[in-house]
Amino acid sequence: MSAMNYSERIPNNVDLANDRKLQRALEHWQPEFLGWWREMGPSDFAQSDVYLRTATSVDAQGWAQYGAVKMPDYRWGIFLADAVPDRRIGFGDAMGEPVWQQVPGEYRSTLRRLIVTQGDTEPASVEQQRMLGHTCPSLYDLRNLFQVNVEEGRHLWAMVYLLHAYFGRDGREEAEALLQRHSGDADKPRILGTFNEPVSDWLSLYCFTYFTDRDGKYQLKSLAESAFDPLSRTCRFMLTEEAHHMFVGETGLGRIVKRTLEVMKELGTDDPARIRAHGAIDLPLLQKYLNFWCSSSLDLFGSEISSNSAANFASGLKGRPDEGQYTDHVLREAITSVDTPEGAQQVPSLNALNEVMRESYLKDCETGLKRWNRTIERAGYDLRLTLPSPRFRRSIGLWVNQPVDPRGAMLSREEYDRRLHEWIPSAEDRAFVRSLMQRVVEPGRMAAWIAPPDRGINNLPLDYQYVTLQ
Ligand SMILES: [Fe+2]
Ligand SMILES: [Fe+2]
Repeated sequence: MSAMNYSERIPNNVDLANDRKLQRALEHWQPEFLGWWREMGPSDFAQSDVYLRTATSVDAQGWAQYGAVKMPDYRWGIFLADAVPDRRIGFGDAMGEPVWQQVPGEYRSTLRRLIVTQGDTEPASVEQQRMLGHTCPSLYDLRNLFQVNVEEGRHLWAMVYLLHAYFGRDGREEAEALLQRHSGDADKPRILGTFNEPVSDWLSLYCFTYFTDRDGKYQLKSLAESAFDPLSRTCRFMLTEEAHHMFVGETGLGRIVKRTLEVMKELGTDDPARIRAHGAIDLPLLQKYLNFWCSSSLDLFGSEISSNSAANFASGLKGRPDEGQYTDHVLREAITSVDTPEGAQQVPSLNALNEVMRESYLKDCETGLKRWNRTIERAGYDLRLTLPSPRFRRSIGLWVNQPVDPRGAMLSREEYDRRLHEWIPSAEDRAFVRSLMQRVVEPGRMAAWIAPPDRGINNLPLDYQYVTLQ
């Protein structure tokens, strides 16, 4: 069952050949997907050979093979992690009962909505990043961008498979609509706000892969707990790929910090104007980008107090990330304290699950900052990079439109409006970052604003020809 079959038009490990109707439906969707990729995927580079990894097994050890591929020829497929024998529902009111292999009628529309919302983010990010190839800081980075892009394309396939296989006609319609909404489109935007923000420079890309792909990790982790077993298995395998996306963000930002510190040392100053004049990204500017993308990504977890997330948990549709780490999996009695503009509020834990997820996400976000701050400290500078308070610049939930600074302190509206551009990138900051984005495509060479990575891809040297431009 779990062997990956690459001899079929749609590679899969779900025995597609034995379900003709489903196979035909997906074969009908495939050219539409390819049309979308051509139109909305990476601009140009269709003829370039890219050193990509392709999944060959769902086994976490040795699951991929590497080789030069033209992106439109990438073998996007449908891969589910192996079934866990006798898997049981791990949380909520039906805890301990066998998981579902089909969608229960009463949860059909909610489950479809969860899958569509997750699915919508995958092509959205490809659209957001489509112009970045033209300004890559190195061939190594260009390849990593394209690796992330093709895998987001595969994640779209993963969700479309579920829609086609388990949701009949409405599922097929939703699969079409996933190719019709577009990031930033005035009439048909993507569902979630962050996925309509332009990612037009590489600093934003590293922030996006650090913060927004990490939100993806937490969403996938909570869906991997689902009682709907095909969804759980799909998400478990997607998590294997997702790790690389966050690696791109974390190492990208770390390399910027490293390079900036070199420039500071060379010039003997931490004056942002002089660092910028030298073509590097000063740390206060980096902090503004962190504030922007972190606060935007925090909205993706939804409102602090939510009856939907309570219902999804109680019915077994969506658990907490790493549900196994908790002792209480039913949460009928538990109470959680939630931070609101009116002070701490005690709410039933079931209704505070978005906040629980947001907190564990923020803890995960800290790991990179600790590492970068150690480098800054070792270089002898006092500045420390920080995450903004979850109260800052929120567009969803209890803190919407509150005049709060990145440390969480309440300000007057006037002071907030006046100072906002001390905390997030101004038009001038963005223009400066854009001015740095000059394409570097000589093997092994890096743009002046970023340090080289510690190692190449898959044990290859750094000056390997990771992309052959045509
Ligand atoms: Fe993804
Ligand atoms: Fe991702």
